[in-house]
Amino acid sequence: MPVPFLDLKQQYAAIGAEITAGLTEVFENTAYILGPKVRAFEEDFAAFCGIDHCVGMSSGTDAVHAMLAVSGLPRGSGVILPPNTFTATAEGVVMAGLVPVFADVDRGTWNLSPRAVEAFLEENSRGGRSVDPRSGAAVSAILPVDLYGRPAELAEFENIADRFGLLLFEDACQSHGASRGGRMTGSFGSAAAFSFYPGKNLGAWGEGGAVTTRSGEMAERLRSFRDHGSSRKYFYSQIGHNYRMEAIQGAVLGVKLRYLPDWNRRRAEAAARYGELLAGCPVELPPAEEGVVHSWHLYAIHTEARKELGEYLASKGIGSGLHYPYPLHLQEAYADLGYGEGDFPVSELNSSRNITLPMFPEITPGQQEEVASAVAGFFG
Ligand SMILES: Cc1ncc(COP(=O)(O)O)c(C=O)c1O
Repeated sequence: MPVPFLDLKQQYAAIGAEITAGLTEVFENTAYILGPKVRAFEEDFAAFCGIDHCVGMSSGTDAVHAMLAVSGLPRGSGVILPPNTFTATAEGVVMAGLVPVFADVDRGTWNLSPRAVEAFLEENSRGGRSVDPRSGAAVSAILPVDLYGRPAELAEFENIADRFGLLLFEDACQSHGASRGGRMTGSFGSAAAFSFYPGKNLGAWGEGGAVTTRSGEMAERLRSFRDHGSSRKYFYSQIGHNYRMEAIQGAVLGVKLRYLPDWNRRRAEAAARYGELLAGCPVELPPAEEGVVHSWHLYAIHTEARKELGEYLASKGIGSGLHYPYPLHLQEAYADLGYGEGDFPVSELNSSRNITLPMFPEITPGQQEEVASAVAGFFG
């Protein structure tokens, strides 16, 4: 039986009609950009994250860019982030006129290592500030990524940021509804960026993103930035962008948000089931941790034979993915930062070993058994 990597059609079959009813209102009002549907979604999503403000954006990439651009970080200063992430995390840093400063991830958690960050900041401390020895940029912020939906060590990063006088931002593009120690992702640090790319746990019918923040002032700057830096009609207080969320996406996301807790619960059940089914296979499974609610956006396993395993799964009609096969510090786009092979051994190892298995709320136990028996069959 073929098993797709992701199956959005089932979601459409279940709630498509409910969403479409809301869209008619948008079409009848002809208010296609921002407007009441986006405003209502922003309020609901802020409440969901346990934070004061949410500002809808045109994508997760734009959300990362916008939150850093309006944060007041000195131009040319450094932002620490992991190399094991989607390129958009680092793109946002560069687009905001800042310098990506990579630090390694933890072998056990696959997320940015607080130890690596702390050691980097201590080793490179000069007269009360930490300076990236490669670029000469004074480090001004830390940007952990909740890879696969596992919340990074955000409270620990808050303490590190405080200790070194840095700001903390979060790339929560994969972690809608995740929490750590009872605190939701999106509620830590200065601001967090979310993506509503269709395949995300909370996905739009097109592109979408948001920034969450506790600061009313930052929310205002974000609202202005996403709308060409306008402060009021005909007046521009900053250089901005067109990062406005479409009304259609606000309407879609407003409906889908109500289903997200149940979808995430079903993903967690599927993750637990994979854990049982794959227990006898010679692969590394995602870390199980107390006090951490994972959003299970992606279910990754590690094996040295990931290429062959992926090909074998494909031959059986089973979808898989690579998230992410080449770490950012070795990508051509970031070559001018001067990193090389061996700079981040754990990120490089994790990049070479990860493979992601089919994961979506509607996946059935039968489909998961099919995946697990194919994995077991591959290893003989
Ligand atoms: C970690 C991470 N950051 C940023 C993004 C960018 O989001 P978008 O695709 O909505 O621009 C994504 C989404 O793919 C992501 O997974």
